[in-house]
Amino acid sequence: MISLRQISKSFPGVQALADITFDVAKGELHAICGENGAGKSTLMKILSGVITDYEGELVVDSVRARFSGTRDAESAGISIIHQELNLVEQLSIAANIFLGRELRSRLGLRDDRLMQRASQALLKELECEFDPRTPAGLLRVGDQQLVEIAKALNINSRILIMDEPTSALTESEVARLYRVIARLRERGTTILYISHKMDEVFHLSDRITVLRDGMLIKTLATVESSAAEITHLMVGREIESLELDASEAAGPVVLEVRNLSLAWPGHARGFRLKDISFSLKQGEVLGIAGLMGAGRTELLECLFGAAALRPTGEMFLNGISYSPNHPEEARRAGLALVTEDRKRLGIFPAMDVGENLSICSLRNALRGGILNRRAEIASAQGMLEKLHVKAAGLSAAITSLSGGNQQKTIVGRWLLTRPTVLLLDDPTRGVDVGAKAELYRLIRALCRDGLGVIVTSSELPELLVLSDRILVLSEGRLAAEFVTSEVTQQHIMEAATRGWMTRPA
Ligand SMILES: Nc1ncnc2c1ncn2[C@@H]1O[C@H](COP(=O)(O)OP(=O)(O)OP(=O)(O)O)[C@@H](O)[C@H]1O
Ligand SMILES: [Mg+2]
Repeated sequence: MISLRQISKSFPGVQALADITFDVAKGELHAICGENGAGKSTLMKILSGVITDYEGELVVDSVRARFSGTRDAESAGISIIHQELNLVEQLSIAANIFLGRELRSRLGLRDDRLMQRASQALLKELECEFDPRTPAGLLRVGDQQLVEIAKALNINSRILIMDEPTSALTESEVARLYRVIARLRERGTTILYISHKMDEVFHLSDRITVLRDGMLIKTLATVESSAAEITHLMVGREIESLELDASEAAGPVVLEVRNLSLAWPGHARGFRLKDISFSLKQGEVLGIAGLMGAGRTELLECLFGAAALRPTGEMFLNGISYSPNHPEEARRAGLALVTEDRKRLGIFPAMDVGENLSICSLRNALRGGILNRRAEIASAQGMLEKLHVKAAGLSAAITSLSGGNQQKTIVGRWLLTRPTVLLLDDPTRGVDVGAKAELYRLIRALCRDGLGVIVTSSELPELLVLSDRILVLSEGRLAAEFVTSEVTQQHIMEAATRGWMTRPA
C-alpha cells in the first residue's frame, strides 16, 4: 500500500534519516521501533505531509505521492496522531475534533449541535464519556490523547499513523485503545505504530521496522522475532537488564503528609484528594499508582504548591511545617517536580537546550552575586552528557530534540537544582528502554546520597522496579500501601479498581 523509497532528511547538524526504504502492506499493523532520536517521528511526519522538504520518494497505492501538507496527505487517506499533542486548548473537544472541517447547516452556518452529537458518538467508540463542550485545555494529557484519536477517526483514514499513542495512558486505557485498534483493523485500516513498549509492539504488530541513528536496520515479521532481538537491533549492543540492586536502608523521614485533602468545587465527588497521609524517608523511592483520575498528579501538585486550590491538612519537611503557596517556594524548600505534561508545563519552547537545563539552578552558578556563564554552561553540559541527551549541543533549540530527549532534558533541569525531594510525574514517558535503565540507575544513585523520590507512572512494571513502597490511589483516596518486594501488578490493579471503601485493615 505504501512504499518508502530512499527517504533522506537532514536538519542543520543532524542527518535525521538516511536512505530509508521499506513497504507497508495493506491492512497490516506495522510497528516502527528505535531509540530516542532514531528518526521515527521524522519519518512519520514525512509520510503524513508535515515535513515536505526531503529526499526520496513515496508511493501510495502505486501512485507516486509528494504531499504539500497535511491536508494533502489526509485527502490521500493518511492521518497522524502526533507524539506531542496538538489540541487548541481554548476550543471545546468537539471544535477540536472538527477543526478545519466544521459541519454546516443547510444555510451554511456552523452547526455546533451536530458536531457535538457526532463528537459524542466518536468518543463513545473510544469508550469515553466527556461532554464534547468541555474545553480541551481542561483535560489531562491522557484524555487529550483520546481526543486526538477521535479526531483522526473522524477523518476516516485508510492509513493511520500513531506516534506513541499509549505513552500517557494507564493500563486500563491501553486495553481500551487495543479494542479501538482491533475495530479499525476489522475495517481494513492500515496502521503505522510507534512505541517504546515491546509488549505492545509484540501484541499488536504484524511486522516491525527498526531504525537506528536515521538508518533502517531491518524489517522483520513479528512472529519470527523477539523483544530481545528488537532491542538489540535498536541499540546495537547488549542492553543492561532493568533489574536494580536492592536499595539501601532508608534514612529518617524527610517529608510527612497528614490528612491532605483537595476540594473539587462543582463536582459531584466534591474532592480531588481526601485524607491522604503518608511519609517519605531519605533515600527512599515511593511509587504512586492509580488509574487516570485517581489523583496522582494532583497529589504531586499539592506537594509542590502548584495545585489550583489550596489543599487542607498538614505537611512537614524535615520536621518543619511546610505549606507552599507557589512552586517557587517549594523549589526553595528543596523540592523538584518533573511534570507529566511535557509540552505545556515542561519545556520552554523559545529557549535552547542549555537554558532549559539551567533555568531552575542559575543560583548555583552565581559567583559573588553575578551569574557566571562558564559555570552555568559547565553544569548544563555535564548533565547533558550524564543523561546522554541526543542534541546538537547546548545551543540547539529544545523543540528540535526528539520527544524522549526533551523529557531527559527536563529531568536533568530538576536534578541540577540538587533537590532533597524529587517528584516525578510519569518521568519516562516516551523514553527508550536503554535510557530508562540509565535514568533508573541515576535515581537510585541519588537516593544513596539521601534524596527522597516520589514517582508516578503509567506503567506498573516501572513502579515495581523503581520504588521501595507503593501507595495506591483510588478516586482521590488512599486505597492501599504495599512494600514493593511483596506485591504483584495484580494486587495493585485490584486495589486501584476496588476503591477505598473495602481497603484492607
Ligand atoms: N525540527 C528539527 N530541527 C532540527 N533537528 C530535528 C528536528 N526534528 C527532529 N530533529 C532531529 O532529528 C533526529 C530524529 O528525531 P525524531 O524526532 O524523528 O526521533 P524519534 O525517533 O521520534 O525519537 P523519540 O523516540 O525520542 O520520539 C533527532 O536527532 C532530532 O534532534
Ligand atoms: Mg518521536
